[in-house]
Amino acid sequence: MKFFIDTANLDQIREAQELGVLDGVTTNPSLMAKEGITGRNNILKHYVDICNIVDGGVSAEVIATEFKAMVKEGEELADLHDQIVVKIPMIKDGVKALKYLSDKDIRTNCTLVFSVGQALLAAKAGATYVSPFIGRLDDISADGLNLIAEIRHIYDNYAFDTQILAASIRHTMHIIDCAKLGADVMTGPLSAIEGLLKHPLTDSGLEKFLADYKKGN
Ligand code: E4P
Repeated sequence: MKFFIDTANLDQIREAQELGVLDGVTTNPSLMAKEGITGRNNILKHYVDICNIVDGGVSAEVIATEFKAMVKEGEELADLHDQIVVKIPMIKDGVKALKYLSDKDIRTNCTLVFSVGQALLAAKAGATYVSPFIGRLDDISADGLNLIAEIRHIYDNYAFDTQILAASIRHTMHIIDCAKLGADVMTGPLSAIEGLLKHPLTDSGLEKFLADYKKGN
């Protein structure tokens, strides 16, 4: 399972990279705004800054919503850095843009996916990644994890190459459940990733080992 961090915060990206388990980064316009990154030039520069910290793919989202403009923006983003993955929303022109960009060997991430039908279309259009937003489904009392399971089932039926990128991860158990269900990638906050390493028996066990070492030295 690949681990992506879902943030535009450079300190957190660096921290996850230093942990040694980071495979990529996802961003979106809201995450950029949260870091105070506004204006096209600043946003483009920020993508390059992120690429220079991590080794893997960095999802950069198009703002355009009309086919020709989406494709133009997608190509500009892809030209920024070879680690850029163009993030395209699941709308009708977005499906056309996914097909166009994937035919040109530009990596894509189909975002704002909330149903199996949308995921099937994204795979048919050749998306590199499909991003089902499980946390936002949970927020409206739907079953985000079930969506991951259903997409896995359908993609396996037809051996689609599109990777399931579980997005809108809110906590550590989401990561574990997505791993059980066979999601190819998860993108989540640093806190959810760091939650994986915590166990009270590890802490108390280490405390005892160190105390016993000190007794004999
Ligand atoms: C995915 O690429 C999105 O950036 C993200 O996971 C959305 O998560 P949220 O629902 O916490 O905003």
